[in-house]
Amino acid sequence: MRFVVTAGPTREPLDPVRFISNRSSGKMGYAIAEAARAQKHEVTLISGPATVKPPRGVTTIPVITGDEMHDAVHRAVPDCDVLVMCAAVSDYKPAIRSARKIKKRKSAFALKLVPVRDILASLPRRHDYLVIGFAAETHDLKKNAKKKLREKNCDAIVANDVSGSETGMESDENEVAIFFRDGETKTISRAPKKNIARELVKIFEKMFEKSLTKKS
Ligand code: CTP
Repeated sequence: MRFVVTAGPTREPLDPVRFISNRSSGKMGYAIAEAARAQKHEVTLISGPATVKPPRGVTTIPVITGDEMHDAVHRAVPDCDVLVMCAAVSDYKPAIRSARKIKKRKSAFALKLVPVRDILASLPRRHDYLVIGFAAETHDLKKNAKKKLREKNCDAIVANDVSGSETGMESDENEVAIFFRDGETKTISRAPKKNIARELVKIFEKMFEKSLTKKS
């Protein structure tokens, strides 16, 4: 199978030295890329500035902003069997990117932000590859994840609780619930991200086999 995995945060520059970003480390996405490669799959990893090293044997495409990730995903998906959108794409970017460092002022100032394009939502409604979304939630996990599954037209969504420090963002461990398009749900209880990634890859392989049987 050919995997495209996105990982890490994106950065939205405000000026040459400042940016808007989030706490994503890239660990979950990199672990999925590594687990898929270990199963002999072809893997393209599209990554924002992560804190971990890319696994061996995968093609890594480094990006910085959400728009760069958008373009890299659109270039990669025509040749893939499964897209795993694990990246924590920044939802907003500064309306103006200053070419010069913004100087300190004495008074308060308001920063105008505009939305970054949603990559999942920008994919064609009909696609012949599997689309796996992720949902980072601090509350109403099931309700919010199911909404994203529908609205972002995913085949499955992997939801994780990012409210604490023991699992989710930056942590080496995670605990996930997977919601499928047909209404089925699976959970993977707390474990190192590498173990969760191996389980997820098995699930994606099964989904792919099922989609082939449907086509034939
Ligand atoms: N995503 C995306 N493009 C964006 C933002 C998010 O493709 N501009 C993808 C993420 O990679 C993930 C899914 O959408 O697979 C859900 O991301 P998440 O951050 O949980 O949710 P948001 O859509 O950003 O919504 P909210 O911040 O309101 O939870």
